[in-house]
Amino acid sequence: MNTFLKANINNIFIDKFQCDPVLIFSPGRINIIGEHTDYNDGFVLPAAINKGIIAAISRSNSNISTVYAIDKAEMLEFSINNLKPYPEGSWQNYVLGVVNEIQNQGKTISNFNMVFGGNIPVGAGMSSSAALENSVVFGLNKIFTLGLTKKELVLISQKAEHNYVGVKCGVMDQYASMFGIENHALLLDCRTMESKQYEIDFKNHELLLINTNVKHSLSDSAYNDRRAVCESIASKLNVNALRDVTEVNLESIKNELSVEDYQKALYVIQENNRVVKASEAIERGDLKTLGKLIYESHFGLQNLYKVSCEELDFLVKQAKLNVQVLGARMIGGGFGGCAINLITKGAVESFKMSVLKEYKLKFNKDCTYYSFKLSDGTRVIN
Ligand code: GLA
Repeated sequence: MNTFLKANINNIFIDKFQCDPVLIFSPGRINIIGEHTDYNDGFVLPAAINKGIIAAISRSNSNISTVYAIDKAEMLEFSINNLKPYPEGSWQNYVLGVVNEIQNQGKTISNFNMVFGGNIPVGAGMSSSAALENSVVFGLNKIFTLGLTKKELVLISQKAEHNYVGVKCGVMDQYASMFGIENHALLLDCRTMESKQYEIDFKNHELLLINTNVKHSLSDSAYNDRRAVCESIASKLNVNALRDVTEVNLESIKNELSVEDYQKALYVIQENNRVVKASEAIERGDLKTLGKLIYESHFGLQNLYKVSCEELDFLVKQAKLNVQVLGARMIGGGFGGCAINLITKGAVESFKMSVLKEYKLKFNKDCTYYSFKLSDGTRVIN
């Protein structure tokens, strides 16, 4: 969390609204492994990070709500009694969607003022959207003393994304951002919404994020289409979700499925198993196995689930050429954003230099690096 950003947002809020706000930090997340398993009721292994959204919020005495996005220098004005979605792709929908879902829960709020900004890049697979949703829902819960539990807040953020943003996302991002624990990753069972914390101390290895700077867009239909494929295969097999399916079960209906759909379901089943194996490897301190599982995850995302892109595949290929990198893969929904690398600490700088050079040669643009710490989840920071 950035103290300069916090002071800046606080000052802008006081300037605009002449009162002291509640200040909230809501983190982005990384995901060690378990991609596209969350909406299949499966397992994921994410962690909140020390980068995210800082929001200043308080009740408004007027009959409009004002939300100012400092990074975009854009203002949203609306009345909580008259909500309408903005066009697809607008940041305003994350805010309005949360307000709408709170009202759908039968909770009463009045108008409010908010100023927010952040330090996670949008579209990089680090869940800037979940961070924003959580900052709004957490803030409104606080200033209107709604008494909602953290789990309820997570579900409201997720529904906002379904109904206002149009992405039928799973629960991983909102959960990780809300429930994060410093220095820990969470093995989350997305069916029960229960998680187990794993301390992440990789000794002389660390996690490094590299951004392709290719912006993904989840709201295009690719994400929702995949979710629909998974659900239709689960229902063919008379189970609730692919979580309940084994490779043997899937084989039994293979000839009823297109090759592409079969591969997608196979990926989900295998990835779900990998998450469990990865958490066991972390427990044993077996980073070699963890790295291998991370590479396998990317292979599946690239070749079976088909949500990678040329730039991400290139970054993972560069990682494979370097023996100091134990594993690398894309994170998040895909089609751009970041790759995560499990790398020997002493090798980080030379790896960065070499990838920067090769990436530029190949794509004629830069990739960027992020260092981060695993952080606590959404919270008040006044
Ligand atoms: C996006 C979604 C998550 C999850 C990932 C893929 O980040 O918001 O729910 O499905 O993609 O693992």
